[in-house]
Amino acid sequence: MLFDTHAHLNDPDFAADLPAAVARAEEAGVRFIVNVGYDLLSSRIAVKIAENYPGCYAAVGIHPHDAAKVIQETYTEIKKLAQATKVVAIGEIGLDYYRDLSPREIQQEVFREQISLAKELKLPIIIHDRDAHGDVLQIIKEEKAGENGGILHCFSGSWEMARQCMKLGFYISLAGPVTFKNAHRVQDLAKLIPLDSLLIETDCPYLTPEPYRGRQNEPAYVREVAKRIAELRRTTLEELAEKTSQNAKKLFKIQ
Ligand code: NI
Repeated sequence: MLFDTHAHLNDPDFAADLPAAVARAEEAGVRFIVNVGYDLLSSRIAVKIAENYPGCYAAVGIHPHDAAKVIQETYTEIKKLAQATKVVAIGEIGLDYYRDLSPREIQQEVFREQISLAKELKLPIIIHDRDAHGDVLQIIKEEKAGENGGILHCFSGSWEMARQCMKLGFYISLAGPVTFKNAHRVQDLAKLIPLDSLLIETDCPYLTPEPYRGRQNEPAYVREVAKRIAELRRTTLEELAEKTSQNAKKLFKIQ
Protein backbone atom coordinates (compact mmCIF):
# COMPACT_ATOMS: atom_id res chain seq x y z
CA MET A 1 0.00 0.00 0.00
CA LEU A 2 1.33 3.42 -1.03
CA PHE A 3 0.34 6.96 -0.01
CA ASP A 4 0.97 9.90 -2.37
CA THR A 5 1.01 12.80 0.10
CA HIS A 6 1.21 15.53 -2.53
CA ALA A 7 -0.57 15.36 -5.89
CA HIS A 8 -2.41 17.86 -8.06
CA LEU A 9 -5.19 15.83 -9.67
CA ASN A 10 -7.02 19.14 -9.19
CA ASP A 11 -4.81 20.58 -11.94
CA PRO A 12 -6.43 21.29 -15.36
CA ASP A 13 -3.91 18.82 -16.86
CA PHE A 14 -5.92 15.99 -15.31
CA ALA A 15 -9.42 17.27 -16.10
CA ALA A 16 -9.93 14.91 -19.04
CA ASP A 17 -8.21 11.90 -17.47
CA LEU A 18 -9.17 11.96 -13.80
CA PRO A 19 -11.03 8.63 -13.37
CA ALA A 20 -8.34 6.82 -15.39
CA ALA A 21 -5.48 8.41 -13.41
CA VAL A 22 -7.13 7.35 -10.13
CA ALA A 23 -7.68 3.84 -11.50
CA ARG A 24 -4.02 3.55 -12.57
CA ALA A 25 -2.98 4.69 -9.08
CA GLU A 26 -5.14 2.00 -7.47
CA GLU A 27 -3.65 -0.60 -9.80
CA ALA A 28 -0.16 0.47 -8.74
CA GLY A 29 -1.11 -0.01 -5.08
CA VAL A 30 -1.61 3.68 -4.27
CA ARG A 31 -4.50 3.62 -1.82
CA PHE A 32 -4.38 7.21 -0.60
CA ILE A 33 -3.79 10.50 -2.43
CA VAL A 34 -3.84 14.02 -0.98
CA ASN A 35 -4.61 16.56 -3.70
CA VAL A 36 -3.15 19.88 -2.70
CA GLY A 37 -4.66 23.27 -3.53
CA TYR A 38 -2.58 26.24 -4.63
CA ASP A 39 -5.31 28.87 -5.12
CA LEU A 40 -9.05 29.08 -4.44
CA LEU A 41 -10.17 27.29 -7.60
CA SER A 42 -7.73 24.37 -7.22
CA SER A 43 -8.64 24.11 -3.52
CA ARG A 44 -12.34 23.86 -4.40
CA ILE A 45 -11.60 21.19 -7.01
CA ALA A 46 -9.47 19.21 -4.52
CA VAL A 47 -12.42 19.15 -2.10
CA LYS A 48 -14.76 18.06 -4.91
CA ILE A 49 -12.42 15.21 -5.95
CA ALA A 50 -12.23 14.06 -2.32
CA GLU A 51 -16.03 13.88 -2.24
CA ASN A 52 -16.08 11.70 -5.34
CA TYR A 53 -13.17 9.29 -4.78
CA PRO A 54 -12.83 7.25 -1.57
CA GLY A 55 -8.99 7.21 -1.62
CA CYS A 56 -8.64 10.94 -2.28
CA TYR A 57 -8.26 13.61 0.40
CA ALA A 58 -7.68 17.35 0.07
CA ALA A 59 -5.48 20.17 1.31
CA VAL A 60 -6.59 23.76 0.77
CA GLY A 61 -4.44 26.88 0.67
CA ILE A 62 -2.77 29.63 -1.34
CA HIS A 63 0.65 29.06 -2.91
CA PRO A 64 3.29 31.79 -2.44
CA HIS A 65 3.13 32.50 -6.19
CA ASP A 66 -0.39 33.85 -5.66
CA ALA A 67 0.22 35.63 -2.35
CA ALA A 68 -0.14 39.08 -3.91
CA LYS A 69 -3.71 38.27 -5.01
CA VAL A 70 -4.90 37.37 -1.50
CA ILE A 71 -7.59 39.57 0.06
CA GLN A 72 -9.48 39.14 3.33
CA GLU A 73 -12.22 37.11 1.60
CA THR A 74 -9.61 34.63 0.38
CA TYR A 75 -8.88 33.56 3.97
CA THR A 76 -12.60 33.39 4.74
CA GLU A 77 -13.13 31.02 1.82
CA ILE A 78 -10.09 28.85 2.64
CA LYS A 79 -11.37 28.58 6.20
CA LYS A 80 -14.80 27.51 4.94
CA LEU A 81 -13.33 24.96 2.53
CA ALA A 82 -11.05 23.60 5.26
CA GLN A 83 -14.06 22.48 7.24
CA ALA A 84 -15.17 19.93 4.61
CA THR A 85 -14.86 16.38 5.97
CA LYS A 86 -11.96 15.11 3.86
CA VAL A 87 -9.75 18.19 4.12
CA VAL A 88 -6.69 16.99 6.02
CA ALA A 89 -4.28 19.96 5.83
CA ILE A 90 -3.71 23.59 4.91
CA GLY A 91 -1.45 23.78 1.87
CA GLU A 92 0.38 24.34 -0.12
CA ILE A 93 1.72 27.41 1.61
CA GLY A 94 5.20 28.82 2.03
CA LEU A 95 7.84 30.87 0.26
CA ASP A 96 9.21 30.77 -3.29
CA TYR A 97 12.25 32.99 -3.79
CA TYR A 98 13.22 31.17 -6.98
CA ARG A 99 10.44 32.56 -9.14
CA ASP A 100 9.52 35.50 -6.87
CA LEU A 101 6.07 35.82 -8.45
CA SER A 102 4.81 37.76 -5.42
CA PRO A 103 6.83 40.26 -3.37
CA ARG A 104 8.70 38.45 -0.60
CA GLU A 105 7.21 40.42 2.29
CA ILE A 106 3.71 39.60 1.02
CA GLN A 107 4.63 35.91 0.65
CA GLN A 108 5.77 35.95 4.28
CA GLU A 109 2.62 37.65 5.53
CA VAL A 110 0.32 35.23 3.65
CA PHE A 111 2.39 32.27 4.90
CA ARG A 112 2.03 33.47 8.51
CA GLU A 113 -1.71 34.10 8.13
CA GLN A 114 -2.31 30.59 6.80
CA ILE A 115 -0.18 29.05 9.55
CA SER A 116 -2.38 30.75 12.14
CA LEU A 117 -5.50 29.57 10.30
CA ALA A 118 -4.18 25.99 10.38
CA LYS A 119 -3.48 26.32 14.11
CA GLU A 120 -6.99 27.63 14.72
CA LEU A 121 -8.44 24.66 12.81
CA LYS A 122 -5.93 22.21 14.35
CA LEU A 123 -4.76 21.06 10.91
CA PRO A 124 -1.24 20.20 9.75
CA ILE A 125 0.39 22.37 7.08
CA ILE A 126 2.06 21.49 3.78
CA ILE A 127 5.01 23.75 3.08
CA HIS A 128 6.44 24.76 -0.29
CA ASP A 129 10.00 26.09 0.14
CA ARG A 130 12.04 27.05 -2.88
CA ASP A 131 15.31 28.89 -2.28
CA ALA A 132 13.85 30.32 0.94
CA HIS A 133 15.20 27.88 3.54
CA GLY A 134 16.34 30.47 6.10
CA ASP A 135 13.10 32.45 6.13
CA VAL A 136 10.92 29.31 6.13
CA LEU A 137 12.78 27.98 9.14
CA GLN A 138 12.57 31.31 10.97
CA ILE A 139 8.83 31.67 10.33
CA ILE A 140 7.91 28.12 11.36
CA LYS A 141 9.90 28.62 14.56
CA GLU A 142 8.39 32.01 15.36
CA GLU A 143 4.85 30.90 14.58
CA LYS A 144 5.22 27.53 16.33
CA ALA A 145 3.88 26.11 13.07
CA GLY A 146 4.59 22.49 13.98
CA GLU A 147 1.88 22.38 16.67
CA ASN A 148 -0.36 20.12 14.57
CA GLY A 149 2.47 18.71 12.50
CA GLY A 150 3.25 19.34 8.89
CA ILE A 151 5.30 18.50 5.86
CA LEU A 152 8.25 20.06 4.10
CA HIS A 153 7.11 18.97 0.64
CA CYS A 154 9.59 18.02 -2.08
CA PHE A 155 12.32 18.87 0.37
CA SER A 156 15.41 20.54 -1.10
CA GLY A 157 17.19 21.84 1.99
CA SER A 158 20.26 20.59 3.81
CA TRP A 159 20.46 17.73 6.30
CA GLU A 160 20.91 20.36 9.04
CA MET A 161 17.67 22.05 8.02
CA ALA A 162 15.88 18.69 7.84
CA ARG A 163 17.03 17.95 11.39
CA GLN A 164 15.69 21.25 12.68
CA CYS A 165 12.36 20.81 10.89
CA MET A 166 11.92 17.29 12.29
CA LYS A 167 12.62 18.65 15.76
CA LEU A 168 9.86 21.21 15.21
CA GLY A 169 7.37 18.44 14.44
CA PHE A 170 7.61 18.23 10.66
CA TYR A 171 7.85 15.32 8.27
CA ILE A 172 10.21 15.44 5.30
CA SER A 173 8.65 14.43 1.99
CA LEU A 174 10.66 13.33 -1.05
CA ALA A 175 9.49 13.31 -4.66
CA GLY A 176 10.65 12.33 -8.16
CA PRO A 177 14.07 14.05 -8.04
CA VAL A 178 15.33 11.28 -5.73
CA THR A 179 15.21 8.99 -8.79
CA PHE A 180 17.34 11.32 -10.96
CA LYS A 181 20.89 10.21 -11.70
CA ASN A 182 22.69 13.32 -10.46
CA ALA A 183 20.53 14.03 -7.40
CA HIS A 184 23.24 13.06 -4.93
CA ARG A 185 22.19 15.52 -2.26
CA VAL A 186 18.60 14.39 -2.04
CA GLN A 187 19.70 10.74 -2.30
CA ASP A 188 21.93 11.26 0.73
CA LEU A 189 18.94 12.74 2.56
CA ALA A 190 16.85 9.72 1.57
CA LYS A 191 19.35 7.56 3.45
CA LEU A 192 19.63 9.84 6.50
CA ILE A 193 16.05 10.81 7.33
CA PRO A 194 14.68 8.54 10.07
CA LEU A 195 11.91 6.33 8.70
CA ASP A 196 9.54 7.80 11.32
CA SER A 197 9.83 11.23 9.70
CA LEU A 198 9.76 10.28 6.04
CA LEU A 199 6.93 10.70 3.50
CA ILE A 200 6.73 10.20 -0.25
CA GLU A 201 4.89 12.11 -2.97
CA THR A 202 4.70 12.75 -6.70
CA ASP A 203 3.87 16.49 -6.91
CA CYS A 204 2.23 15.42 -10.19
CA PRO A 205 1.83 16.62 -12.93
CA TYR A 206 5.38 17.91 -12.28
CA LEU A 207 8.67 16.16 -11.42
CA THR A 208 8.06 12.83 -13.17
CA PRO A 209 10.37 10.17 -11.71
CA GLU A 210 12.63 7.85 -13.69
CA PRO A 211 12.00 5.81 -15.80
CA TYR A 212 9.01 7.88 -16.92
CA ARG A 213 10.73 11.27 -17.35
CA GLY A 214 9.34 13.14 -20.35
CA ARG A 215 5.81 11.92 -19.61
CA GLN A 216 3.23 13.66 -17.44
CA ASN A 217 3.64 12.61 -13.81
CA GLU A 218 0.70 10.96 -11.98
CA PRO A 219 0.05 9.35 -8.57
CA ALA A 220 0.76 5.80 -9.83
CA TYR A 221 4.42 6.80 -10.21
CA VAL A 222 4.88 7.35 -6.48
CA ARG A 223 5.80 3.67 -6.62
CA GLU A 224 9.04 4.61 -8.44
CA VAL A 225 9.87 7.16 -5.74
CA ALA A 226 9.29 4.52 -3.05
CA LYS A 227 11.33 1.91 -4.95
CA ARG A 228 14.34 4.18 -5.31
CA ILE A 229 14.28 5.25 -1.64
CA ALA A 230 13.96 1.60 -0.56
CA GLU A 231 17.00 0.74 -2.71
CA LEU A 232 19.03 3.60 -1.24
CA ARG A 233 18.13 2.56 2.30
CA ARG A 234 18.68 -1.14 1.55
CA THR A 235 15.20 -2.06 2.62
CA THR A 236 12.21 -3.51 0.80
CA LEU A 237 9.62 -1.56 -1.16
CA GLU A 238 6.98 -3.17 1.09
CA GLU A 239 8.52 -1.89 4.31
CA LEU A 240 9.15 1.58 2.91
CA ALA A 241 5.60 1.76 1.53
CA GLU A 242 4.03 0.56 4.74
CA LYS A 243 5.97 2.85 7.06
CA THR A 244 5.53 6.00 4.96
CA SER A 245 1.80 5.24 4.62
CA GLN A 246 1.50 4.82 8.38
CA ASN A 247 3.28 8.14 8.90
CA ALA A 248 0.91 9.92 6.50
CA LYS A 249 -2.20 8.38 8.06
CA LYS A 250 -1.03 9.43 11.49
CA LEU A 251 -0.29 13.00 10.40
CA PHE A 252 -3.53 13.41 8.44
CA LYS A 253 -5.61 11.47 11.00
CA ILE A 254 -6.90 8.98 8.41
CA GLN A 255 -8.14 5.59 9.66
NI1 NI B 1 2.76 21.01 -5.32
